[in-house]
Amino acid sequence: MRKQIVAGNWKMNNDLVQTEALLINLKKQIQTSSAEVMVAPAFTNLYHAFESLKGLNIEVIAQNMHYAENGAFTGEISAGMLKSIGVNTVILGHSERREYFNETDEALAKKVDTALDHDMRIIFCFGEELADRKSGNEEMVVASQIKNALFHLPGWKFKDIILAYEPVWAIGTGETATPEQAQDMHAFIRKTLANQFGYDIANRVSILYGGSCKPSNAKELFTKPDVDGGLIGGASLNAEDFFAIVNAF
Ligand code: PGA
Repeated sequence: MRKQIVAGNWKMNNDLVQTEALLINLKKQIQTSSAEVMVAPAFTNLYHAFESLKGLNIEVIAQNMHYAENGAFTGEISAGMLKSIGVNTVILGHSERREYFNETDEALAKKVDTALDHDMRIIFCFGEELADRKSGNEEMVVASQIKNALFHLPGWKFKDIILAYEPVWAIGTGETATPEQAQDMHAFIRKTLANQFGYDIANRVSILYGGSCKPSNAKELFTKPDVDGGLIGGASLNAEDFFAIVNAF
């Protein structure tokens, strides 16, 4: 069976004091769940969150990293730095990174390689913009994002890859893809993977949905056969809402 995963992407929110408050609330809400639970604080709060959640069933993950091992890349963070504080999973390719920081498929392919070389797991994000969907090009866009960043890999490496389909028009907008739209796209993504790597591998890859996922719509989304969980932005900043989503499985 595929892993069910709910990951909270805190983005550029919460200073240390606010992070501490959210961690305390998360610990109050923790309960056994069939889903793996992850949270991605800002870099400055990663170590604190890691220490605070040690031994609990919430993995602390990073929102981004650079592809180089080290060197003259002012303001960047390497895979080795993340690993050294206990972070073993990284989000790559978020649409905000693509849009505001010009991350290209080519750069993302390098980041993917570096993360895997460091035995890290990856939540790889992709998704079409509203104009793509309006013109009926959403599958083409999504397929090319996946192919360009991931199809150079040997299939066995997908054991460390989690996919996150996040239609850009649904992120932070309150507008969610319908469960049917999500399922259709997730099934297409799995088929795209299967065509390249076979169904054996494709069927084992968890595909998360992201984009205004909240307690009121999580259950319907998660009951779809190819939706294996969620990458949660806004609603992950509230511990009650976040765990309501986790418990939607
Ligand atoms: P949202 O963000 O839940 O606030 O729409 C999702 C994401 O960006 O991962």
